[in-house]
Amino acid sequence: MSHLLALEVVPAAGLRGTLEVSMNTLERITVPTIRFSKVKNGHEPLTMITAYDYPGAKMVDKSGADMILVGDSLAMVVLGQPDTMCVTIEIMEHHTRAVAAAKSRALIVADMPWMTYHTSKTDAIKNAAKLIRAGASAVKLEGGAKRRKVITAISDAEIPIVGHLGLTPQSIKELGVYKVQAKSKELGDKLIQDALILQDLGVFALVLEAIPESVASAVTDELNIPTIGIGAGSSCDGQVLVFHDLLGFDIANKAKFVKTYANLEDVGSQALSQFVKDVRTGEFPSKEHTYH
Ligand code: KIV
Repeated sequence: MSHLLALEVVPAAGLRGTLEVSMNTLERITVPTIRFSKVKNGHEPLTMITAYDYPGAKMVDKSGADMILVGDSLAMVVLGQPDTMCVTIEIMEHHTRAVAAAKSRALIVADMPWMTYHTSKTDAIKNAAKLIRAGASAVKLEGGAKRRKVITAISDAEIPIVGHLGLTPQSIKELGVYKVQAKSKELGDKLIQDALILQDLGVFALVLEAIPESVASAVTDELNIPTIGIGAGSSCDGQVLVFHDLLGFDIANKAKFVKTYANLEDVGSQALSQFVKDVRTGEFPSKEHTYH
């Protein structure tokens, strides 16, 4: 991804001028870079992939993705839980720290878990700060207008925020099942209103999950900040997928919007079985793997 940034500079002589800086592709990606990456303004689509640990973050960064999301989806794909409700701020700090250790070029966004921004503005700021101290550059939280107060408070504490609308997994107890959201005209319009409110509150990017393409397209057109879709069609300004879905873990339970690019569960199992077999047959350790 290459971007041109117009930086205002004050030269030594005191004259104001502008300097065009071509962003080196190896430079770390920043919040302003993402904020201005709209496809309608000529930018290529953004890419975001989840990661939950050091080797995963290294793999994602090597792919050239723009953002790493330390998602609370780790509840399902790493901890084997049925939903994200069990995730605490301590769990998110732990995984964010591991991801940050990879020192990625990609911008690290960490999810604020359920009940870490619902109780008070003070709790929300303190919990967001824990994720920043663990190594994230921004936090993501779910919901629209009803999050007005906490979003303002977190932004006022200089912490950048990514919004999340549509299917919000932390609402699963209320929703009953994971399904496509905003299917009626009324709910589609409400989602667009929520998106505009989030933008006004200073959110710098917006995840749209499991909504009809027409709604995602309308939101993307209306907003000046980028939309990042997951199950929201191709008109968004970027796409996000969960690491384990993309790499083919638990394929039997994959959602319609997941494209599997490898079958690492099978490849990994085969390698592990080979180790078990080699030990049992005496093939491993060989002389080559032994200190003499
Ligand atoms: O937790 C997560 O992985 C997410 C993505 C599905 C966007 O929120």
